[in-house]
Amino acid sequence: MLRSVVAQRLLPRSAHAFPRALPIAMEHPDPNPNPDKPPQPPYPVGVVAALEAAKDPSFRARPTLFSREFSLHDRVALVSGANRGLGLEMALALIEAGARAVYCLDLPKEPGDEWLTVRDYTEKLDFGQGKKGGRLEYVSADVRDQRGLWAIGDMIGDKEKRFDIGIAAAGILKPHTSCLEYPSEQFKEVMDVNVNGALNTAQAAGRQMHRFNTPGSIILIASMSGSITNRDHAWTSYNSSKSAVLQMTRSMACELGPLGIRVNSISPGHIYTTMTAAYLDTQPGLMRKLAGMNPLGRLGRPDELRGVVTWLASDASTFCTGSDILISGGHHSW
Ligand SMILES: NC(=O)c1ccc[n+]([C@@H]2O[C@H](COP(=O)([O-])OP(=O)(O)OC[C@H]3O[C@@H](n4cnc5c(N)ncnc54)[C@H](O)[C@@H]3O)[C@@H](O)[C@H]2O)c1
Repeated sequence: MLRSVVAQRLLPRSAHAFPRALPIAMEHPDPNPNPDKPPQPPYPVGVVAALEAAKDPSFRARPTLFSREFSLHDRVALVSGANRGLGLEMALALIEAGARAVYCLDLPKEPGDEWLTVRDYTEKLDFGQGKKGGRLEYVSADVRDQRGLWAIGDMIGDKEKRFDIGIAAAGILKPHTSCLEYPSEQFKEVMDVNVNGALNTAQAAGRQMHRFNTPGSIILIASMSGSITNRDHAWTSYNSSKSAVLQMTRSMACELGPLGIRVNSISPGHIYTTMTAAYLDTQPGLMRKLAGMNPLGRLGRPDELRGVVTWLASDASTFCTGSDILISGGHHSW
């Protein structure tokens, strides 16, 4: 039988004994182990499981890494900027990992053809033994609208009665503009979407996680441009906005850690999407040049973020917060 996180927290520690058999559905582990004792996993995994099995012949030994730690079974997520690009790729990854519902927020009133095709694909996914996957939902929203985002969070929480994952992937990049000429209106426009939008999205998710006492995971999509400057690219506003997202990640992680809510960022390198096509497709030779600027000698693919986002969203990363994960093909190493 399922024990909710809230119920688990109300139970004395002695009642947290390892279950003999794994429950059918996953719940979040208790994030508040007794601080005077070494922390224990909420159910036996890894070496602890092996030691349990050695003590108890009735212990059912079976792998847990993908069925439990990485599983997002029944979890509820919000992903901004998910009509296309990296946000949509991440939303699909969450569904494949078992999420119950992933709410995709983006500007257009109606979702695009790519989103609809992906939604149809999720409906056809076979999870074995005829089991179907979770729902991909579309919500038209502007991440700059703080109250609107909070209301969407409330709507999702009211409907689903839980809220586990929030991903802020909406972002904009403007064409090259000299830093000595940069118009403040344009600088503000980028900040409004990339920084305020990330805050509003994280708040929408975090407020629901707090409401349901859920040790959720908030993931802000920053960029390697928050840590390094792309050579020959005059992107002051974008780079500054992504640096702000990195510091927002650390600040929110420190504030929300005591609630068991984790906040991390992912910093991709150059990945071919509509955003990057705007400069890659219009400047002959640029794709080859940027590919040559990392040790792997190529651009990244959106699907190469599926693993890291699932890891950060799941219980496989429960000790990771306030971190930035660089996925750049090594661009930042040179
Ligand atoms: N593609 C890359 O190489 C790369 C590298 C590093 C970081 N990033 C970051 O990853 C994120 C996704 O980028 P992408 O490459 O998929 O770009 P993209 O342009 O394909 O997707 C961005 C999405 O955000 C949406 N969006 C923009 N403004 C919005 C607003 N005000 N409200 C709601 N939605 C809004 C867009 O409509 C679009 O669907 C961005 O934050 C971007 O800065 C991308």
